[in-house]
Amino acid sequence: MGFLNWHQAYAGGLKQNIGQEKLYNIQAKLQQEYSNLPFLNLKHLSELIPALQGISSQLTRFKNMLILGIGGSALGPKALQQSFYPTQNLPEYKGKRLYVLDNIYPGRLEQHLTHLAPEDTVVVVISKSGTTLETISQYFLVKKWLQKNRQQFQKHLVIVTDPQKGFLRQEVKKNGYLSLTIPPKLGGRYSILSAVGLLPASFLGLNYLKLIEGAKSLSTIDDLLNHPALKLACWAFDLIACGKNELIFFNYIPYWECWGEWFAQLWAESLGKNQTGSMPIPAIGVRDQHSLLQMFMDGPQNKGCLFLNVEKLPQAEMLDMDLPEEWKFLENKSIGDIFLAESIGTLMSLGQKMPLVELTVEQANEYELGKLILLLELTTLLTGWLLDINPLNQPGVEKGKRLAKAKLGAPGFVQEQKELEHFQQQKKNSQGF
Ligand code: PA5
Repeated sequence: MGFLNWHQAYAGGLKQNIGQEKLYNIQAKLQQEYSNLPFLNLKHLSELIPALQGISSQLTRFKNMLILGIGGSALGPKALQQSFYPTQNLPEYKGKRLYVLDNIYPGRLEQHLTHLAPEDTVVVVISKSGTTLETISQYFLVKKWLQKNRQQFQKHLVIVTDPQKGFLRQEVKKNGYLSLTIPPKLGGRYSILSAVGLLPASFLGLNYLKLIEGAKSLSTIDDLLNHPALKLACWAFDLIACGKNELIFFNYIPYWECWGEWFAQLWAESLGKNQTGSMPIPAIGVRDQHSLLQMFMDGPQNKGCLFLNVEKLPQAEMLDMDLPEEWKFLENKSIGDIFLAESIGTLMSLGQKMPLVELTVEQANEYELGKLILLLELTTLLTGWLLDINPLNQPGVEKGKRLAKAKLGAPGFVQEQKELEHFQQQKKNSQGF
């Protein structure tokens, strides 16, 4: 990362609400918890890298990888693919193709299975718990498809899950699938630098060692008080303390659009607890200058902004032709100059309206991305601790899961069954608008 630039970080209504003592406590807590935080200590990588090399060599014969997963088990792989292989869907594309099925809307799986040649496809089922309804139901369907089309269907399946627990681990034992593990203490949304993200990265040919190197450059916490993640977390905490309950993630690296979605999940699922936190709002420059920006500028003044951009833009097309009088100012400028001018315009205007931190990466490459991932994960953890909440659990999403299982007739959900009946009765009796 080139630099973290603080625009009005502690101005514009913000005040530093965090005493020195609290910061020392956070530092002590992090040192104490370090060994329980695989996303930060990255210890699992010493075993994972050789295992990954072994598995990857068995997967080179496949042209397609189909991932079944959801949430933290899907957003990382999807973001890596879209960031570094954006032309995958063009017909002339020659590289490996990665598809991520992170939704079960009817028809989507079938579309994929109709178009993918089973002999060229490896299916990777990713689920930390090994019990997620959406992922497991897709697994059953894909297994049937493979069994129908391939004699040795087991050779087309790889499972990434907990080393011991869950249904998928049992399936590995029963069917002899290839598998990789997710460390027990590594939660889904913090798991991109495990087999979850690194297996697909290696399949695609991405330089994942650089990704790791970038992350490692920020994973030392000896001097936490000067770590950019703590600074960013203090800023985010202050925002929330001042009632700014929306956090814009304005990203001026459009190929990295998916990182907005990834960050939104990380931030929302980690921090939305005890009626606190801030709502992440991903936006893409320059596109969303023509959609969301008006609301950011003149809507409710309850926002802060993380502004992501890149120092070295890719080579850009030149406007080296004669232009009509009214467009003469563009002559011999490049598309990059226009992009830059617009990003500066937005950065400045947003910075005058709200607290804003500019994150600049030197180049949109694997190393810088590794840094960004670690920075955002650690910032999220520390913001949670500053808010006195647990950023590693997600109790709020359990209720809906239980109700869905009750609706499907799964055993053991007596209370949810009653609630469902009551709800359905109420719905029946209610009047529409
Ligand atoms: O971040 C999380 O913990 C969640 O978003 C999970 O990744 C998501 O619910 C999928 O869980 P699992 O990987 O157990 O299938």
